[in-house]
Amino acid sequence: MTIARPARIVALSASLRGRSINGRLVDVAAGLCEGLGATVVREDYRALAGGTPDYDQDIEDAEGIPPVPAALAARLGAADGLLLAAPEFSHSMPGTLKNILDWVSRVKPAPTPNLVCFLLSASPSMVGGYRGLQALRIPLETMGVIVLPDMFALAQAKTPEDVDRLTGAAPAGARLKAGRAAFLETALAMRPIADRRR
Ligand SMILES: Cc1cc2nc3c(=O)[nH]c(=O)nc-3n(C[C@H](O)[C@H](O)[C@H](O)COP(=O)(O)O)c2cc1C
Repeated sequence: MTIARPARIVALSASLRGRSINGRLVDVAAGLCEGLGATVVREDYRALAGGTPDYDQDIEDAEGIPPVPAALAARLGAADGLLLAAPEFSHSMPGTLKNILDWVSRVKPAPTPNLVCFLLSASPSMVGGYRGLQALRIPLETMGVIVLPDMFALAQAKTPEDVDRLTGAAPAGARLKAGRAAFLETALAMRPIADRRR
């Protein structure tokens, strides 16, 4: 199966560490999207988080949106879809990610209405970080993002090699492939509506 028009996808893993399981998961998912003809821009999360100051309205009032989150907002604004993997920290999202989203939410005109998002997580736990994804839906939906109901949470993954093994076989691999196809189809279907903000 290939999808007729190439979807434009931004892929981001909200983990700072080198041997991140979420980093590996987003790489696997990005590769699957490319396998269906999508164009994927991979974000450098260290550069994003490191270049984004803690949100401070005094900074915004004096200087506007800092260049790093402003550039991310522009890339999201031009995209059809966001592939976002996030570790679950204390049953919620990483603070660095919330901070970046807060800055992006301040960009006007808003860059993210009708951007389609497929949420992913990997965790050593039995629920795979799913509770963190439920928390992440709230700021994303507040920003007008269409967060797909079907989220992919990979349980019992401790290492990048675990991610490869688990996603390389049924049932997780089949579930990820099905989620990826629905994501690309929805992202392309929403393009004419998302175009209204461009
Ligand atoms: C501060 C902190 C809080 C965490 N809270 C949770 C949690 O609530 N649920 C969970 O499944 N794992 C939790 N973990 C474990 C992470 O899922 C695990 O460290 C995972 O490898 C992080 O993803 P990464 O490898 O992509 O950085 C937590 C880890 C840290 C450092």
